[in-house]
Amino acid sequence: MTASNPTPLTSDDDWWRTAVVYQVYVRSFADSNGDGVGDLRGVRERLPYLRDLGVDALWLTPFYTSPMVDGGYDVADYRDVDPMFGTLTDFDAMITDAHALGLRIIVDLVPNHTSSAHPWFTAALAAAPGSPERARYLFAEGRGAHGELPPNDWESIFGGPAWTRVPDGQWYLHLFDPAQPDLNWRHPEVRAEFEDVLRFWLDRGVDGFRIDVAHGMIKAEGLPDVGFSSMTTGRRQSELLGKGRLPYFDQDEVHEIYRAWRPILDSYPGGRMAVAEAWAETPQRLARYIGPDELHQAFSFDFLDATWSADSFRKVIDTALVEATIVGAPTTWVLSNHDKQRHVTRYGDGEVGLRRARAASLLMLALPGCAYLYQGEELGLPEVLDLPDELRQDPSFLRTGESRDGCRVPIPWSGELAPYGFGPEGGEPSWLPAPATWAALSVAAQSGVPGSTLELYRTALGIRHSHPALGPDAGEVNWLETTGPGVLAFRRAVGEAELTCVVNLSDAEVLIDGYGRPVAASADLTEQGVGHVLPVDAAAWFDRR
Ligand code: GLC
Repeated sequence: MTASNPTPLTSDDDWWRTAVVYQVYVRSFADSNGDGVGDLRGVRERLPYLRDLGVDALWLTPFYTSPMVDGGYDVADYRDVDPMFGTLTDFDAMITDAHALGLRIIVDLVPNHTSSAHPWFTAALAAAPGSPERARYLFAEGRGAHGELPPNDWESIFGGPAWTRVPDGQWYLHLFDPAQPDLNWRHPEVRAEFEDVLRFWLDRGVDGFRIDVAHGMIKAEGLPDVGFSSMTTGRRQSELLGKGRLPYFDQDEVHEIYRAWRPILDSYPGGRMAVAEAWAETPQRLARYIGPDELHQAFSFDFLDATWSADSFRKVIDTALVEATIVGAPTTWVLSNHDKQRHVTRYGDGEVGLRRARAASLLMLALPGCAYLYQGEELGLPEVLDLPDELRQDPSFLRTGESRDGCRVPIPWSGELAPYGFGPEGGEPSWLPAPATWAALSVAAQSGVPGSTLELYRTALGIRHSHPALGPDAGEVNWLETTGPGVLAFRRAVGEAELTCVVNLSDAEVLIDGYGRPVAASADLTEQGVGHVLPVDAAAWFDRR
C-alpha cells in the first residue's frame, strides 16, 4: 500500500514542513550560573552541541517571568524573562547565535491562562464582582443557597474542581492549577494583548510558536455542566481529552483567534510558524486548527500513544499520512515531551525499553514531515521513577498523585558525579537529582562511542539531511509487504535514490536481503550471505542508489 503525504515545498518559508525540532525544557537543559536551574545562557552555550546533533530548530518551554507553580506555564509577564532563566539580553544573544548556527527558535505561548501573579489577576482580585478587571477572567457566582458550590461541574486537568472561591464569594475558573486562572477570550483586551505579545517575540526574531492548550481558550456560552465528574462517577473528565466533547475545549469560536493570528505571522518574513498543542475529539476536528488561514501544524500524539506492535505503529502512521494529505500540512511525529513518560520507560524500561526506543527513533526519523525530539531522548534517558516525593514539583502530583517530574530531570553532560556537568563545577545540586546510573549516559560518555544512542541520533539526523530520499523533495511512504509478520518495512525514494527502513517488532530475528547497504542500525546487524540479520526490537536503514 502507498500512503501519500503532501509534497513538501523546498523554499525557506517552508522549513517547518520537514524540520527536526528539539524541545528544550529550559529549566533542565544547562545551568550556566550554578544555581541548580537551567537558563538561557546555558542554552546558548550548548547551541553548538545541538547544531552538531543535526536538528533544525529548538522549541523552548516557557522562560518568562513566573512564580513557577507549573514549571513556567504560569506566566506573570509575557514580555520578559524570569531572572531564574536570565534576561531579555540573554535571549537576544541566544537567538542571534542560534540563527548564526542555522538553528531556528520556537517559543512557547501560553494564552489559555495567566499566572495568578499576573498584574491583571491581582487587579481582578482587588476589584469588585462585575468590575472591568474581573471581566478579563472567568469569574462567576456559585450555586447553592449561598453560592457555596462551584458554578458548574468542571474539573481541573490537574484534578479537583476547576473553580476556586475568592473572599467576596465569587469563583474563578482554572482548568489547571488555581495559580493558573483562565482568561476570558471573548474580551477584546485579551485578544489585543496576545496579538501584541506575538509581535513582541516576532520582532525579537523568533521563528515560531508552540501554542499551549490551543484548544482551550473559548468556553461554551453559559458555562454548561459536563454532566459527570469524578465525584459522581469516579471517572475524571480529563479522560475525555482527545476522545469526547467537553464544554471547555475545542469550541468552534476558538478558530477565530487563529484566523486573527495568522496574518500577523505571515506579515513577517522567513516563514514564521505556529504549532498547536491541541486535543480534539476526532482527527477531523483537530485538522481544523491547521490550514493557510490558521496554524501550520498541530501535534499528533497518536504516534506517542502507539503500543509496541507493528499493527499499532502501522495504523497510526497510515492515519497520520492520510490526514496530512487532507489538510496539506506535514505530519508531526512525537515520541516524548515534558508531559509524558519517556519512551524508553514506556516501551518496557531497562535494556528492552532502550532497544525499542532506539528502534522507534529510527522509525520516526525516516518518516516524512516534521519530527519533535525531547531533550535527552538522544541520550536514551529513561524516566526517573524513584524521585523522592518531597522533591517533586509538578502541581498535578499533589492533586492526583501523578507527576511529570520524572521526565524533567536535568540533562547529564559529563563527569562522574551528579549533576554531571549540568552546571559549573562547585555549583548547587540540580533542582531534581539525576540518578547515579546517568554518568554512563552523559553526552561526554556517549560522544564518539560507536553504537551509543547519541551517535545513533547523530548518524540518523545526518542521513536525514543528506539522503535525497529523506529530503524535502522525497515522496511517499511505500510499505513493503515481504518481510513477515511483526516487521514493518517501508521505502522512500526519489529518482534512483532509495532508503528503506525496517523495524523488527516480532519476537524472532529476521533476514533482510535486497534493500541495499545498511547505513544506520539501532542494534548490531550480522551479515548472512548477501543479507543481514536484524535482531528483535531493532530497526535499520538501508540505502540504494
Ligand atoms: C500544557 C503543557 C503542560 C502544562 C499545561 C498547562 O499541556 O504542556 O506542561 O502543565 O499546558 O499550561
